[in-house]
Amino acid sequence: MQTKKDITPEELYQILHNVRVGGTVCKYTLKKCEEFVPLINEINQLKEEQDAVILAHSYVSPEIVYGVADFVGDSYALSKDAMSTNAKKIIFAAVRFMGDTAQILNPHKEVLIPGLLDGCTLADAINGEQVRQLRKEFPDYTFVCYINTTAEVKAECDVCVTSANIYDIVERIPNQKIYFLPDKLMGANLIVEMKKRGIKKDIQFFNGICYVHEEYTPEQIHKIRLEYPDAKVVSHPECSPAVVENSDFIGSTSQMLTYMKKTEAKEFLMLTECGLSSRLEVEFPNKKLVGSCTLCKYMKSNTLEDILRVLKSPTDRDRVILDPKIRDRAYKTIEAMFRYVEG
Ligand code: 13P
Ligand code: SF4
Repeated sequence: MQTKKDITPEELYQILHNVRVGGTVCKYTLKKCEEFVPLINEINQLKEEQDAVILAHSYVSPEIVYGVADFVGDSYALSKDAMSTNAKKIIFAAVRFMGDTAQILNPHKEVLIPGLLDGCTLADAINGEQVRQLRKEFPDYTFVCYINTTAEVKAECDVCVTSANIYDIVERIPNQKIYFLPDKLMGANLIVEMKKRGIKKDIQFFNGICYVHEEYTPEQIHKIRLEYPDAKVVSHPECSPAVVENSDFIGSTSQMLTYMKKTEAKEFLMLTECGLSSRLEVEFPNKKLVGSCTLCKYMKSNTLEDILRVLKSPTDRDRVILDPKIRDRAYKTIEAMFRYVEG
């Protein structure tokens, strides 16, 4: 891992001054950067002393992404980063289930979670007992769980997927009968995509929802297209099928960024959490956002103050502590994902 040298408020301001959305503050002024810098430099120094790395999802605040994170990405990329790091300690700035996944992949490492809100509307939608009941109701089905689930739920399923690989993995699963959980909009999108690919599967799904992506409507897209006819609409597969159908690109958060980087288009409506919009503002300043985005309160419950706190004096609540039996069974489900991705 590369050591981060101390940053000055002016350098931080230079990185963040274009950000209008997606942060814990409305505007990144030089004064705000002066407040962040002592925290950032202390975190980076402690990380080095403790042989720790910080993994951050693109949805967390820009001062974390650009100030202290060693790895930034979507949930699939972060799982791989968690697996490949040699550091002794992992600080996971995202949501608890992503930290759990890092621990499942690294049983001998300490994984700390600075986020103060534990849930996520998808991960909270279903528990292990409900999956056990569903398996009795659908005995011949392969149970596919989204990564946005607890370790207990993963332990009851067969294969884990993320937004980056769900379609390819479900296509490759030999069983015709698939039960997908917990996101009902992603489940509906999965059915549409399999039909488009000419794949015949009986797909059942649960009724969970992501409160951030559920909000978007095709009407919003039509309004933006009238005002900005050249804008490209980029959406996440947790959006409704009607939104997906009216979008120019659908993909995981990292795939969305790659698309926006590659295309010639200059204006984008991004139907996902604001953190990704702020990455566009910082990394592609010649590209413009149109329309609005939505904040995820769970991802935004990560702060520099809490990252510093878990480095200095972690409590049991900050640590990922899993029942070894659950961890071993959840590992098999996550490992199945890597096997299917590798073909
Ligand atoms: P990604 O896997 O695309 O990062 O999505 C995670 C997530 O929580 C989206 O709401
Ligand atoms: Fe969960 Fe939705 Fe937030 Fe992602 S954006 S962490 S799915 S609530």
